[in-house]
Amino acid sequence: MKEIKIQTLEQIHEAARQFIDCMGENTVFAFYGKMGAGKTTFIKAVCEELGVTDTITSPTFAIVNEYRSDTTGELIYHFDFYRIKRLEEVYDMGYEDYFYSGAICFIEWPELVEELLPEDAVKVSIAETEGGERLITLD
Ligand SMILES: Nc1ncnc2c1ncn2[C@@H]1O[C@H](COP(=O)(O)OP(=O)(O)O)[C@@H](O)[C@H]1O
Ligand SMILES: [Mg+2]
Repeated sequence: MKEIKIQTLEQIHEAARQFIDCMGENTVFAFYGKMGAGKTTFIKAVCEELGVTDTITSPTFAIVNEYRSDTTGELIYHFDFYRIKRLEEVYDMGYEDYFYSGAICFIEWPELVEELLPEDAVKVSIAETEGGERLITLD
């Protein structure tokens, strides 16, 4: 269990670097947290710190966005399952080809595909505190 605190948006890249230090050999990261908690914003900062210079936005309509790190050349997949209505949609998009590709996968709304997550997916929670800070917890 590891905690990363973000007091202001100015610290988000520093927090992203701390997160990257915790990633190890893991590739699938499930980001839990309410709407507005800061999942997309944090994933964007982590992708930027991993060397992505593509535009990073929530993959709301595509379900998945693909980015490439300009520094390492590695692929990163960013999912948003918020609009999924049936698991069949997730099967149809070929989720296994992504989750088990060995490429980094960052997942928003993993609770909607919980039974499809790899066993070794890292659970990340983002919560907004009363003061507007964000607390990120990795299990
Ligand atoms: N660490 C943070 N500190 C302050 N504001 C933040 C932080 N992270 C996100 N926000 C703000 O909160 C709002 C929602 O963020 P977003 O990343 O879209 O949330 P989610 O993807 O969890 O729904 C945005 O306006 C964003 O600028
Ligand atoms: Mg989002």
